[in-house]
Amino acid sequence: MSDDFEKKTTQGKIKDFEIKNLTLKAMGGEKQIAKQHELKKLTARERLDLLFDKDTFQEVQLFVQHRSMLFGLDKKEIPSDGVITGFGKINGRIVFAAAQDFTTSGGSLGEMHAKKIWKVMDMAIAAQKPFVALNDSGGARIQEGVPSLEGYGGIFYRNTIGSGYIPQITAIMGPTAGGAVYSPALADWVFMVKGSSYMYITGPDVIKSVIGEEVSHDELGGALAHAAKSGVCHVVTENDADCLEKIKKLLSFLPDSCHSPLPLSDCTDSEERICTELDTIIPDKGNRAYDMKKIIRSIADNGDIFEIQELWAQNIIVAFIRIMGKTAGVIANNPRFAAGILNVDASDKASRFIRFCDAFNIPLLTFTDVPGYMPGTNQEWAGIIRHGAKLLHAYSEATVPKITVITRKAYGGAYIGMCSKQLGADFVMAWPTAEIAVMGAEGACNIIYRNEIANAPDPAAKKAELAAAYEEKFNNPYFAASLGIIEEIIAPRDTRKKIIALLESLKNKKEMRLSKKHNNIPL
Ligand code: HXC
Repeated sequence: MSDDFEKKTTQGKIKDFEIKNLTLKAMGGEKQIAKQHELKKLTARERLDLLFDKDTFQEVQLFVQHRSMLFGLDKKEIPSDGVITGFGKINGRIVFAAAQDFTTSGGSLGEMHAKKIWKVMDMAIAAQKPFVALNDSGGARIQEGVPSLEGYGGIFYRNTIGSGYIPQITAIMGPTAGGAVYSPALADWVFMVKGSSYMYITGPDVIKSVIGEEVSHDELGGALAHAAKSGVCHVVTENDADCLEKIKKLLSFLPDSCHSPLPLSDCTDSEERICTELDTIIPDKGNRAYDMKKIIRSIADNGDIFEIQELWAQNIIVAFIRIMGKTAGVIANNPRFAAGILNVDASDKASRFIRFCDAFNIPLLTFTDVPGYMPGTNQEWAGIIRHGAKLLHAYSEATVPKITVITRKAYGGAYIGMCSKQLGADFVMAWPTAEIAVMGAEGACNIIYRNEIANAPDPAAKKAELAAAYEEKFNNPYFAASLGIIEEIIAPRDTRKKIIALLESLKNKKEMRLSKKHNNIPL
């Protein structure tokens, strides 16, 4: 210990500490901060200030420094090693977070940067609290080399260990390239900011040199590309503030961990509310679309829904709502897109959502209006068999309360896939407009009455007559109800009341599965 140090008074030591603290908290300095703002991005600290309740953020490992001597790093100080980690309160509940600081060495991830992230992830898992990552980074710190890769590996491992145990959210608020994309991909929810964020495995330059394709950063991996085309992004946001606000909103639906109770919000909506608007929502003509989201809004407390992956696989809707203040997960076919048919992407979207809800004890409400699986080589070769199986698997393995409402079509295998009774639904109810059948009337008649139709003087008229008779017999809810395949037929207006009563009755539901290591979901 130097004489100088020994001579310092307590007050001097505290002053030193305060100066060091301020220096580290100044991040990459004014110039870099100004550059960040010019790009319409907030700094990591500004983001954390917006995310957490005022003055609740507790920083962890502010003084950590890199220890690399390579490529000039021995002479380079990187405040906080480019990532700010800690925990605080969001709407009064503890959440852990790591925010990469692009103003210091581009938020690049080296050994110690990664270890800071490991530390808060370990703390979040030990404390059984959600973890939020705010990503804004040039990727692996190139000067440090392989320790950076080790760093990513340790993050992926923790993402996986924490999966299904604590909710994990990643917001992409700047670049995320190469293998760095896999921590977000392993998290439960990926938020992206329009215009300032992008994610890809290989960037435009590599793509051009390897396969000659020209594409911009945004087109390739911007928020809209991942929200509408790849399905990687769950929530698109307008800017940093909007992104952080939406993360808070999502967290308000989620429990702290798989062992924690669901959050209970004050409910200002009525238990007795009758949804008369639902009595007129199904068009008289069976091939007309209607707005399934209106149904979900009618059922939800105060019409409030938080939709996930709104722009991708739009033929299915997945969303969180509250029923009498408690979270429920909704899965619904969307007749406005491809008649609500099931395809590869819709199966993936719904299955992942169902598994999240089941892992965190969130009851499942399914609204069925499905004409079948999408036919054609495109879907067969894309593996509709494999992907469609995920949906069957996800619903069957889920042990949370499962309630199904059939609003209109429930045909064939797709009917089974939308949480039918045999996949373990606790209660299946149908509106009087429901058509529960092995297939549509016309298709059925083409098979059953092929010769009769072909030999009729007017085949079209004969087919229409036979189809009407088939419809009368099977394309209604009464045949299924008579066999106990559905529990009840209800007036649409009573749906919310019925769901409230069912959720109340099922609140102590406990369902056991066979003792084994884990299921093998068809991936
Ligand atoms: C070290 C980095 C860095 C990196 C950025 N910086 N990325 N330092 N390693 N990966 C530094 C820059 O040198 C610069 O430092 C500061 O961050 C700001 O960067 P700029 O280039 O000035 O910013 P900008 O013009 O906005 O460009 C952003 C960028 C660009 C497009 C992200 O920085 C870039 O292309 N970075 C490299 C991306 C990359 O190839 N990453 C490695 C991928 S491999 P100074 O000191 O000048 O301020 C990888 C493998 C992961 O990530 C595998 C995981 C399994």
